Amino acid sequence: NDCHKNKNCKPIPVNLRFEFLTNSRVWDITSLNSKNFHMHVFRCNHTTFQHLTITSPDESRNTDGIHIGASTGINITQAKIGTGDDCVSIGDDSHQITVTDVTCGPGHGISIGSLGRYKEEKAVTGIIVKNCTLTNTQNGMRIKTWPDSPSPSIASDIHFEDIIMVNVSNPILIDQLYCPYTQCDQKPPSKVKISNVSFKNIKGSSFTPLAVKLVCTRGIPCENVELTDIDLTYGGNQGPLTSLCSNVKPTITGAIKALACATSSLAPLPLSKK
Ligand SMILES: *[C@@H]1O[C@H](CO)[C@@H](O)[C@H](O)[C@H]1NC(C)=O
Ligand SMILES: *[C@@H]1O[C@H](CO)[C@@H](O)[C@H](O)[C@H]1NC(C)=O
Ligand SMILES: *[C@@H]1O[C@H](CO)[C@@H](O)[C@H](O)[C@H]1NC(C)=O
Ligand SMILES: *[C@@H]1O[C@H](CO)[C@@H](O)[C@H](O)[C@H]1NC(C)=O
Ligand SMILES: *[C@@H]1O[C@H](CO)[C@@H](O)[C@H](O)[C@H]1NC(C)=O
Repeated sequence: NDCHKNKNCKPIPVNLRFEFLTNSRVWDITSLNSKNFHMHVFRCNHTTFQHLTITSPDESRNTDGIHIGASTGINITQAKIGTGDDCVSIGDDSHQITVTDVTCGPGHGISIGSLGRYKEEKAVTGIIVKNCTLTNTQNGMRIKTWPDSPSPSIASDIHFEDIIMVNVSNPILIDQLYCPYTQCDQKPPSKVKISNVSFKNIKGSSFTPLAVKLVCTRGIPCENVELTDIDLTYGGNQGPLTSLCSNVKPTITGAIKALACATSSLAPLPLSKK
């Protein structure tokens, strides 16, 4: 399909859809080589997904492991996910989601979003990602929103804690200039307001020198962002370990200078194509 570049695309099947479940438990499932998302969780409440194995090749597009949307009270726990796209992604109108004891890789890491592409998206609130290990992924913990959002929305109360990164390209990332594959009008910035976000006890290695990148939206800065006990290293030869912050002033404790907004950019930054 062409869903990566066409927002009105004809979708192809996901391996498993869970829709309108309440008070449920899904466990011991293996999903292999989906054409699209492996699992799509939509309008579910109070449901736990446990002990899952999800696998597809790292070059397979749109094969998110678990995508959650319009759901409340979802736990994902004890999962091993390696795909060509996001390990777990959390879309709009999702609340009280916990992701614990999950290993990811290969793939694009754990993402909130993408948000702000469609009209009248609802808020994302109350996300906890804890005790996860990411290996050889393109991103670690990411919040991604599109520029030029048709309506304002909110992403708030999002907490990443006790995370191990092994050779992750962008370990800590807020990207409000997310525009893969397509043309975006960069001038109208993202209208997603991000607040109350913490990254705590994040350790391990970065594949690129830019280990922390917080690029928030112009005119609607991120608020109450905390970085606590960030211990990331870079062993390559593409320059020194560093960090970039734009339109955000995080509270930082327990991080060396290089990781503590070493560069604060006020200049417009280019759109990110991944
Ligand atoms: C889930 O909870 C929301 C409110 O929290 C409610 O509006 C919705 O009907 C519930 N969905 C199901 C499938 O029970
Ligand atoms: C999900 O996990 C949280 C925290 O561990 C727990 O409080 C909650 O009861 C769990 N929810 C379900 C549906 O199991
Ligand atoms: C963290 O997750 C791993 C699985 O990835 C699990 O083996 C371990 O028991 C978890 N640790 C805690 C403290 O929950
Ligand atoms: C580290 O990650 C990069 C980029 O994903 C990959 O090309 C490289 O093979 C990885 N290194 C190891 C030792 O796995
Ligand atoms: C953010 O946290 C503060 C302090 O805990 C709270 O007062 C505020 O309502 C929160 N904002 C949002 C949008 O959740």
